Parts: sequence; structure tokens; C-alpha cells
Amino acid sequence: MIPTLSWTPEGVRFLDQTKLPLEESYVLATTYEEVAAVIVAMVVRGAPAIGVSAAYGIALGAKNTKARTAQEFAPEFERICVWLAATRPTAVNLFWAIHRMQAVFKTLLATGASIVQIQRRILAEAHTMYAEDIAACKAMGAHGADLMPDEGGVLTHCNAGALASCGYGMALGVIRSAVERGKKIHVYADETRPFLQGARLTAWELMADHIPTTVICDNMAASLMRQGKIQAVVVGADRIAANGDTANKIGTYSVAILAREHGIPFYVAAPWSTIDLATATGDQIPIEERPAKEVTHHAGKQVTPDGVGICNPGFDVTPAKYIAAIVTERGVLRAPYAKALKKMELAADQV
Ligand code: MRU
Repeated sequence: MIPTLSWTPEGVRFLDQTKLPLEESYVLATTYEEVAAVIVAMVVRGAPAIGVSAAYGIALGAKNTKARTAQEFAPEFERICVWLAATRPTAVNLFWAIHRMQAVFKTLLATGASIVQIQRRILAEAHTMYAEDIAACKAMGAHGADLMPDEGGVLTHCNAGALASCGYGMALGVIRSAVERGKKIHVYADETRPFLQGARLTAWELMADHIPTTVICDNMAASLMRQGKIQAVVVGADRIAANGDTANKIGTYSVAILAREHGIPFYVAAPWSTIDLATATGDQIPIEERPAKEVTHHAGKQVTPDGVGICNPGFDVTPAKYIAAIVTERGVLRAPYAKALKKMELAADQV
């Protein structure tokens, strides 16, 4: 399994995704501030992986505290949460993980838990989130594999794989599961300018699994679709609004439009922690603006003239109408998504 992130006695160990595919090296974060820095630097990225990283960051904050009582720790706990929440704005999994930890801490505070009990319980919750994430990916894979063609090309954008999660992956989990069932899939990975998650990360992890993969520049997708090389598209998500509008890596929206034009199904695979029922539509999803240098420079070399205007949104929103199905660990949802999402949420509440 790809060791995206793991808890060790010394701290949280991250596979450095900024160095892939040329170098497999690790970064050890021993404080919550270091975990936040690792998220900001994109050493770890991808919505579910960011959420679990923040949970472990809080566990590190609890481990390192000098507070002697829960009451003394309470304001520090809030500062830790605020610090981690300020790292990246779009992936809702980050806030989902922090809120979940806040709920755990609230109960511990109310029941008069000791600092040692708090440290143990918070770490246990982070471990649970980690395990749940892998289980969710496996379940998404099982649900989504049915949607994949028995044979043919599947296009994906960015990296919604093991590297974006605690293992197995979302969009790539669906592909992995389909391949495990004997489907003959050839993956086309958009390079995903400017950060190249597709070229560097998706290609790296699919090659490791011996899944046939071809990297294409983002501007080649339409042409390949027209040539009949793509039978389905599957991508991940950073936040899915209550009406099904989906924020994902910049460029996803154009792929969805191209797929519609060519009569190709466009699927989204994401865990329930990516669904944000408190956000009504995609218009309200905050979109991260990334550093201009990601656009002005390529492989360390400046590629634009000094002083030119630069726009670098990290994500875009694909309107729900372009999405053929949303694959979650709870099952496959079809339009109308507002109704389907609400129904699935209610069903889970009743379990
Ligand atoms: O900026 P990144 O690399 O964190 O963006 C990641 C994506 O957009 C992924 O597609 C998304 O997190 C999918 S994982 C369900």
C-alpha cells in the first residue's frame, strides 16, 4: 500500500508528494504547526488526506501540550483547530475532521477527562478516521466498478488516488476495483496544470499497480474523446454542495462539458466527508487562489514575461447537471442530487 501518511511514535510521517515521481522521500511533522505547514506546502494534498492529516495534527497538539488539566488545554485546543483550519479553504474534509475532533473534545471536557485520557482519545479518533477512510475508498471502489466499461479508456483529472487519501483512492479506487474485477481499462491521466498532480502522482501510483496509463496534456482531452478513445470519465471532489454541484481541481469543469458534448458519462467519486449539505450550491464554495509562481514557472524555470497578470484558482465547480453519478461509500447517487443526498443522509442517521 502507498504510505501517504502514517502515525509514528516520533510524529506524523508524510510521503513528500512535491518530490514524486522522481524521489520517494518522507517528511516528519512533530508539531501541529509542522502538519499545517506540510498541508500548505502540498507535501500532502487531496481532500480526504488533508482531513486525516489535520486530525493527526490535533493529536500532536494534544500530545505536546504542557497543560495539566482539560480546562487549561481548552483554549490551546481551539487555537490548534483554528491554525489547521487556515491551511486550505476548499476541501471540506479539513473542516469536517476538525469539527469531529471538536465534538470529541467537548465530550471529554464535559466528562472531566484527564490530559492523558484526552491525548489517548484524540489519537484514537484520528486512527479511526484513517481506518474509515481506507474502508470508504474500498466501498467506493466496489460501488463504482460497475459503472466502468468492461473495456476501454477512462479519463481522470488531478489525483484522486491513494495519494489523496489514506490508501486505495476515490476515482482511482473505482478504477483499481474495476481492474481487479478483470475489466480492461486504459487510464488517460490529464497532466493537470499547473501543479501536475496527474502527470506526477496519478501516473506514478497507477504505474506502481501496473495499470496501463497514458498521460495527456489537459488540452488534448477533447481530441481523444472525438477519436472514441474515452468511454468514461471519473474524478474526485473537494466539496460537493447540497445540490450536487462539485468543486474539484481546476480544469474538471471543462472535462465535464467535453464529456457531455461527446456523450461520455462523467462520474464523481468522493467519500461522504466531502459532502457539504450546509452549502446550498457550488456558488458558495470557497475557491483557493494559489501562488502565481505555479503558473509563471515550469520545472523551476520562468515561462512568462515579468509583470504579466496571473490567475491561478486551484479549483472549479462542475454544475450537477453534468454529473452522471456520484459514487460514495454509501452507494451510487443519481440526479436529482438534492433529493438523493438528503435521502442518503437521512438513511444513515437512522442506522
Ligand atoms: O490541490 P489538491 O492536489 O489538494 O487537489 C486535489 C483534488 O482536486 C482532488 O481531485 C480531490 O481532492 C479529490 S480526492 C476525493
